[in-house]
Amino acid sequence: MKYSCSKCGESVDVTTRKAKCDCGGLWKLDYKPQKFDLSLVDQDTWSIFRYRAFMPLEGEQWREISLGEGMTPVIRFNEDVLLKMDYFMPTLSFKDRGAAVLIAHCKAIGVNSVVQDSSGNAGNSVAAYCAKTGIECEIFVPEGTSSKKIDMIKSHNARVNIVPGTRDNCADACRAKVDTEGKYYANHVYNPFFYEGTKTYIYEVYEQLHRIPANIFVPLGNGTLFIGVVKALEELLESAVIDKMPHIVAVQSENCDPFIKAVLAGEKHPASVTPTSTMAEGIAIGVPMRGEEILEYTYKYNIEMIAAPENRIMEARMALAAKGVYCEHTTAATYAAYLKYCELNGKTSDCLIPMCGAGLKSDH
Ligand SMILES: Cc1ncc(COP(=O)(O)O)c(C=O)c1O
Ligand SMILES: [Zn+2]
Repeated sequence: MKYSCSKCGESVDVTTRKAKCDCGGLWKLDYKPQKFDLSLVDQDTWSIFRYRAFMPLEGEQWREISLGEGMTPVIRFNEDVLLKMDYFMPTLSFKDRGAAVLIAHCKAIGVNSVVQDSSGNAGNSVAAYCAKTGIECEIFVPEGTSSKKIDMIKSHNARVNIVPGTRDNCADACRAKVDTEGKYYANHVYNPFFYEGTKTYIYEVYEQLHRIPANIFVPLGNGTLFIGVVKALEELLESAVIDKMPHIVAVQSENCDPFIKAVLAGEKHPASVTPTSTMAEGIAIGVPMRGEEILEYTYKYNIEMIAAPENRIMEARMALAAKGVYCEHTTAATYAAYLKYCELNGKTSDCLIPMCGAGLKSDH
């Protein structure tokens, strides 16, 4: 299997240890699964790997790596809202979907040591899957990351580096280590295998509901769920399993919104922003590395963008918790954005909202 460079088109084998192309472009995976069909789903595998007929897996490593990720329920929250409970995961966030596939790839190509940067959740996931399969792991997190997430990462015997400054500074520090020490960058944004895992979010919804809801809300920081959702919906469309793209609404933080600003200006590149502090730490990405790709999808499918009102995140979190759903602040921000969307556009029915991270992970 091959990667091709998203900038210059250079093609390399996926066994490469290079995090990106020499020209600076990020890799895309040259892989198109067969047509989606529920009859090809392995009903005896109780994890995301039940969809392996549509995954670029090399070998059987996934069997020893899986922690039972995925298969999260869709619950009815009220007459308009369905919640997909993606914090019912081995490390309590949706990132396990991507990390399981990424680390299966690392194992398949013989990587034995990785580095990764994260606002916490992706680091938790990568650390857990590395622990499961015996890969050495070092995670970089920004200062201010919840101590509970840091404790979890350490518990999996991964080394943790707390980097002063923003989430973007943290990514820079980790990438410097990749460049100077040639470490394998098991990063959820750079590595295309991660998106092959997040696609299962939509496969599952389709298998569970036998349809796709009309309005799909999705948080948007670096866009790992966003890209997986769009790619999977494209596959369902091409397989004639659905007949139109649902309406997608992407949620950014009010205090860190490079995509919202780009769309307002009709730009093809994320706007340059100065992030200020937000409770939605998971989506506080000022410099999203796959920004152009995300904006291409946004224009192609008329994806709407909305900012989560910072001063209503707590209220949204309490409203969810008051009905038994205890999520982290970044996840409450998606619900706060949905409520704002309804205020601006009127009652919006048949909405699917992801509950990406568990409430016990937050410090606040
Ligand atoms: C709970 C939660 N929700 C949403 C996101 C956003 O994911 P992405 O940055 O890939 O768009 C993250 C990322 O860390 C997260 O932890
Ligand atoms: Zn290139």
